[in-house]
Amino acid sequence: MSAQTEIRRKTVRDIAKAKGGEPLVCLTAYDAPTAEMLDEHVDVILVGDSVGMVVHGLPSTVGVTMEMMVLHGQAVMRGSSTAFVVVDMPFGSYETNADQAFLNAARLMKDTGCQAVKIESGTYAATQIAHLVARGIPVMGHVGLRPQAVNVDGGFRAKGRTKDECRLVLEEAMAADEAGAFAIVVEGVASDLADEITKAVSCPTIGIGASAQCDGQILVIDDMLGTFDWVPRFVKKFGNRREDVINAVEAYAREVRSRQFPGAAQTYKLSKPMSN
Ligand code: KIV
Repeated sequence: MSAQTEIRRKTVRDIAKAKGGEPLVCLTAYDAPTAEMLDEHVDVILVGDSVGMVVHGLPSTVGVTMEMMVLHGQAVMRGSSTAFVVVDMPFGSYETNADQAFLNAARLMKDTGCQAVKIESGTYAATQIAHLVARGIPVMGHVGLRPQAVNVDGGFRAKGRTKDECRLVLEEAMAADEAGAFAIVVEGVASDLADEITKAVSCPTIGIGASAQCDGQILVIDDMLGTFDWVPRFVKKFGNRREDVINAVEAYAREVRSRQFPGAAQTYKLSKPMSN
């Protein structure tokens, strides 16, 4: 490919400069064909640890492993060529200290070729974020409802119900920003709090169940495509994949059982009879 025709992936600078501009379009993806379909339409593809629940049927993201993130990160990188790709650091891969975070983040970057990692960032994680950024790894923060903390929260609960909780989420966001995060996911908070965070931090905020005033929006791809019967209140279904898949599988089953499939168009005929 010549330098002229080379397709360039979006970079961390493209994402960071979206602050206050046209909203960033972000979606999760976990496999190559989905990444290929999203690629030209989105700014950011997040290989979220939601893969554990969406693809592997886990009850939460707590059981997600580095190996899962590497495998799905590689697939998404193979399927995409222009989107900025971020891979989630799974639960247990960064919390211990900055060295643990660096070793695991470097592995994600090297083994997948992704451009950044995401850390669910309580205030303590500012140390890890600063350590990674200083060593060449762009970090996306994630504040508010942090799914990896489901066992402490006793469920997936929206954040910012009390003044103290609002203050804490704002502190988490400001700590991630000051530590050098290039963007911050703000999940499951009231729109007022999301707006306050967006004003308070210098990097773009990416909302999910947050506010239209965030600098970008993200959804889990399967939620917005309608793969599941149930979706959280903040999700809008932009498709109905569940219905499409069930209709297609029912039609296939009918045609196999009635010997309509495969038809003439789907079967090979030898041009000359086989000699024995
Ligand atoms: O894992 C994930 O998909 C996420 C998004 C919900 C932001 O963190």
